[in-house]
Amino acid sequence: MLLLGIETSCDETAAAVLEDGRKLLSDILSSQADLHHPYGGVVPELASRRHIEVLDHVVETALTKAGCRLNDLSAISVTSGPGLAGALLVGISFAKAMAYSLQIPLLAVHHLEGHIASIFLDPSEATFPCIILVVSGGHTNLYFIEEYGRCRLLGQTRDDAAGEAFDKAAKMLGLGYPGGPVIDRLAQFGDAKKIRFPRAFLTKGSLDFSFSGLKTALLYHLERQGGVDNVKDQLHDLLAGFQEAIVDVLVAKTFWAAEKYHVKTIGVAGGVAANTALRSKMQERARKSEIAIRFPSLRLCTDNAAMIALAGYYQYRIGRFAPLELCPK
Ligand code: KG4
Ligand code: ZN
Repeated sequence: MLLLGIETSCDETAAAVLEDGRKLLSDILSSQADLHHPYGGVVPELASRRHIEVLDHVVETALTKAGCRLNDLSAISVTSGPGLAGALLVGISFAKAMAYSLQIPLLAVHHLEGHIASIFLDPSEATFPCIILVVSGGHTNLYFIEEYGRCRLLGQTRDDAAGEAFDKAAKMLGLGYPGGPVIDRLAQFGDAKKIRFPRAFLTKGSLDFSFSGLKTALLYHLERQGGVDNVKDQLHDLLAGFQEAIVDVLVAKTFWAAEKYHVKTIGVAGGVAANTALRSKMQERARKSEIAIRFPSLRLCTDNAAMIALAGYYQYRIGRFAPLELCPK
């Protein structure tokens, strides 16, 4: 059973072909990072236009690499939301047209369900129940997952998402977009103990997050130093301290949740799951508490179509097909 996945919710145009829900035959990605870099964030209209320009070619490449033709496909899954409306519309319209002309089912995937699925692309390792942390540019969500498809939201950010905090900090410091990867790289040369930033744990035991105070703390720090130009010689320490404030809270709350729900497996997904410090602190803490920790491969942390194909496959198996009236959410 061959399934084509399409993802265009933000600034990556992606298509992947998945065989029988387990074998990834192709996974093609066209990134728009360079297009948005000068603006310090994604410009929605530019994103939609770029998706239109490249999606046809990205899908064709995914099919060619998988060694299959259009008529071999059994279903098409596409991200239906959340995301940028115009960007989503491109992928959805494309997928609908393909499903209609090939007379095969259309599957609508929630973007976060896609991120969660990225953890299960290696089926040999799935262990339920588990706690999953989804940390991306738009979300910081903690879930208790009893079994695939049955999940409960335990906590979420009350303001900025973790990835958004990285992106906004990078923008303040003139480091471009996306901020996460550049901060990750530069922070490795810094000492996180030199400049301390506040950690927002909120009320006792709360599994919600808040990162806007951290952003303000960085702003005040820059003001006290007399502006961005005056922090160049402390940039590495500054970024290491800033990053550690985010990582500490993510690690602490995820493990609180694991203890509270007595689970032995934690999964971390989404763009921020690619962060070196987060991966190593989570792993270190997991070793101490005998909890198994699972991350997608680095490539599958940020937006991709493989995860959309797998989440779509689970829907296909239970016959949850989307109507051709499907709209972006
Ligand atoms: O999952 P994703 O590709 O898109 C959304 O669904 O939002 O996540 C993108 C986010 C951006 O905020 C980006 O700065 C962040 O993930 N990110 C990282 C790293 N790589 C990407 N944050 C920290 N460290 C990284 N290595
Ligand atoms: Zn995403």
